[in-house]
Amino acid sequence: MSHGPATPLTAAASGPLTGVADVPGDKSISHRSLILGAMAVGETRVTGLLEGQDVLDTGAAMRAFGARVEKEGETWVVNGVGVGGLMEPEDVIDCGNSGTGVRLLMGAAATHGFSVTYTGDASLRKRPMARVTDPLALFGAVAHGRTGGRLPMTVVGAAEPVPVRYVTPVASAQVKSAVLLAGLNAPGETVVIEREATRDHSERMLRGFGAEIETRKTAEGNEITLVGRPELRPQVIEVPRDPSSAAFPVCAALITPGSDVLVPNIGLNPTRAGLFETLREMGADLTYENAREEGGEPVADLRAKFSPDLQGIEVPPARAASMIDEYPILSVVAANAAGTTVMRGVAELRVKECDRIDAMATGLRAAGVTVRDGADWWEVDGRGAGGVEGGTTVAVHLDHRIAMSFLCAGFAAKRAITVDDAGPIATSFPIFRALMEGLGARFEHATAA
Ligand code: S3P
Repeated sequence: MSHGPATPLTAAASGPLTGVADVPGDKSISHRSLILGAMAVGETRVTGLLEGQDVLDTGAAMRAFGARVEKEGETWVVNGVGVGGLMEPEDVIDCGNSGTGVRLLMGAAATHGFSVTYTGDASLRKRPMARVTDPLALFGAVAHGRTGGRLPMTVVGAAEPVPVRYVTPVASAQVKSAVLLAGLNAPGETVVIEREATRDHSERMLRGFGAEIETRKTAEGNEITLVGRPELRPQVIEVPRDPSSAAFPVCAALITPGSDVLVPNIGLNPTRAGLFETLREMGADLTYENAREEGGEPVADLRAKFSPDLQGIEVPPARAASMIDEYPILSVVAANAAGTTVMRGVAELRVKECDRIDAMATGLRAAGVTVRDGADWWEVDGRGAGGVEGGTTVAVHLDHRIAMSFLCAGFAAKRAITVDDAGPIATSFPIFRALMEGLGARFEHATAA
């Protein structure tokens, strides 16, 4: 679903940020809970689901595919139709802003003998879909989209799918997951090989739902084998909190004088926790308290304190996949560090909700920061703690993470920073403003520049 008129928002220099930040549920796991729940036989119960627009759009899609998806009190209840039981939607599936939603749904439906037409908002309609429809073609599905493989797009599913062996050409959990979800309704074994490890929520959750799935480390990379046509068993799922959302209060605290913020219950799955490692290498006062295991995942409470002596570093490119959504907010921390932060091997940032290198570089430059960039790299020259000038309005290009990153920059800048549209924040972190205000952050409603 697309959101309404643009709502500009301004972040002004803020006093210390202090207190407890209860961030919402994990977006990746929330999408997968609804999709896998819909493909199980019986009732899956989900608590802690992220009620962001991206996930709500996936919920609406699963209803259109024939599952029952309802909220009962605090629990989301999904009555699944079983593997192979999805039905042809009567109308276009609108995934709004969500690349994860559309790509996972395309995979799940591709091995059913019916057609589905997908669309999304102006951001999603620009994003590449061939990375998913290429492997889905190997199952026998046929995609007809706009030029360049863009939405709107109709995927004619394979009535008699064959299993697939596929080496992912880009490090993408969405592509890997689309192939695995398609493999659910193909006979035999579907194999995905990824050279670089990406988030492994699909594998963990498929195992939890009772699928036979195995990951082997080989010379080529991770080789994931799924046995098709399992009967998925409904699950009781408690969605952990999202490390990608935790990144915002954590980083805002690191750069805002006097701050001390506790962000409890954050999943630290190694395929997601690269940002926190990077921040510690930069000298951040960021500690893991009460480290424990929950549901087979490492979890801790993060404590972040103002860190006046952050140092720029070269982020190891091998870490990119484990922090791919966190480069925008990292660049804000880098702008408040001493020295240069170098980020390489990040071409994927150019095909997210917007071109994130371009959006951050343009906004940071307008706020007085020197940024250099190329096709798959960028560098930020830090101005030291509190050194960002601000006093500008930046374009967020329908990208929630660009909006939140610049608002966090505003709390620590010399002059306020305005984002031209705070609306997209509701896709992943609807309580962002209230949560940050609760910590002491200052927002003002701006008039559009
Ligand atoms: C996601 C995978 C990542 C990430 C996105 C969520 C997922 O995208 O950027 O926010 O849930 O699988 P890519 O797989 O395209 O890297």
